[in-house]
Amino acid sequence: MAQHDYIIEIESLHTQLGRHVVHQNVNLNVHYGEVLSFVGSSGSGKTTLLRQILGLEQCVSGTVKVFGHLINDCDTSQLRRIRRHSGVLFQQGALFSALNVFDNIALPLRELRVLNQKMIRDLVMYKLDMVAIAAEHADKMPADLSGGMVKRVALARALALEPELLLLDEPTAGLDPELSKSFVSLIERLRVALNLTIVMVTHDLDTLKALSDRIAVFADQTIVAVDTPEAIYRHPHPYIRRYFSAVFD
Ligand SMILES: Nc1ncnc2c1ncn2[C@@H]1O[C@H](COP(=O)(O)OP(=O)(O)OP(=O)(O)O)[C@@H](O)[C@H]1O
Ligand SMILES: [Mg+2]
Repeated sequence: MAQHDYIIEIESLHTQLGRHVVHQNVNLNVHYGEVLSFVGSSGSGKTTLLRQILGLEQCVSGTVKVFGHLINDCDTSQLRRIRRHSGVLFQQGALFSALNVFDNIALPLRELRVLNQKMIRDLVMYKLDMVAIAAEHADKMPADLSGGMVKRVALARALALEPELLLLDEPTAGLDPELSKSFVSLIERLRVALNLTIVMVTHDLDTLKALSDRIAVFADQTIVAVDTPEAIYRHPHPYIRRYFSAVFD
């Protein structure tokens, strides 16, 4: 898609879900090619903001622009185009449990309705190889995979359409430290190879440190700071001090 100054621009965003105010006056710009991480307490609106970037959740006021397009104004076909350039790994339900590995990754490719069987097969096998899953696992069902493999297959599916923007919601949650480390290095490698911009939510300090170019901190129903990791670790805001003293301990 055509380049604008920022891949994502969020201005004066107010969000309410039912009677619950989630965001008040959220402002955020995401640069092309960076890894921006969201941290903040449970319920602070991180996942909601990711969903808004994909046009899956409405706001009360404010604007969300992705690839220079105002999400609030997008009709269904524009939204579909934007989503086609974005890959997402959701916090829950990373894979469709009724579909095997192959069909999970093939799903977004089939939805395009322009690729034949052979092209889909080649692309799926190529994506599997990219996330270091052997071809022999293609017929397996999600229930028969380890946690680390589920994450890798879900990543392969998120990358199926060769997105420019990758959204990761708690990518290493539930993985043991070793698997978590190898998943982080996989993301790092793919990020460089595919020239990705990544917006990621994580509670895991190792993942945060290993990947983030900048960190956005959610508190008081807004983003209270966005800066480099070094600056955030030294930030005077009381919530940020508490958050990082807790994780450093
Ligand atoms: N459909 C909904 N209706 C009403 N409230 C909702 C709805 N979805 C989410 N919420 C509330 O909105 C708030 C923000 O939720 P969100 O899932 O964005 O938080 P989060 O920062 O991702 O938290 P976590 O770290 O636990 O994943 C929470 O208080 C949640 O209970
Ligand atoms: Mg969440």
